[in-house]
Amino acid sequence: MAQIEIIVGSVYGNAQNVAEHAEQFLISAGHQVNVHTDPDIDLLNEDAAFLIITSTTGMGDVPPNLELFFADIQADLPSLQGKKYAIAALGDSSYCESYCGAGKQFAELFAQLQGEEITPMLELDSMETFTPEEDVVAWLKQHNTQFSA
Ligand SMILES: Cc1cc2nc3c(=O)[nH]c(=O)nc-3n(C[C@H](O)[C@H](O)[C@H](O)COP(=O)(O)O)c2cc1C
Repeated sequence: MAQIEIIVGSVYGNAQNVAEHAEQFLISAGHQVNVHTDPDIDLLNEDAAFLIITSTTGMGDVPPNLELFFADIQADLPSLQGKKYAIAALGDSSYCESYCGAGKQFAELFAQLQGEEITPMLELDSMETFTPEEDVVAWLKQHNTQFSA
């Protein structure tokens, strides 16, 4: 059982919906879960694991609700040593170069923080799946025990 802080970046609600399904699954799997749509950088000090679920907006940009959080992390580079995290990125591959850009930006930044990524980033391509909420649950079924391992 792990304490898992879900951090959601969403513009129109798709990632929010995916995060709600992830939350329900993780609770049913016995974890303690909180969902954050307006996180403060201090959240990363929690003795917890982190699950980022973010869409991409603009041309590879982080959704507005996570812009400040992202900028604060870039500025402070808090250590995530000893902490686990995973990232699920919603995107649309017709955006080509900027496909899942926000997820990729978080992946690069969190790698610098030296946490332990429990599994490579999940990409949820709206050109390929109409059920990203089911895909995220299937992914979490495979990996959720690694948050507490
Ligand atoms: C204005 C706009 C810009 C977008 N830009 C990108 C992009 O650069 N890369 C990408 O992979 N997807 C892009 N998308 C696709 C969204 O990330 C995708 O539709 C996602 O499911 C939206 O989730 P949300 O409702 O949680 O924001 C864009 C969508 C819109 C409407």
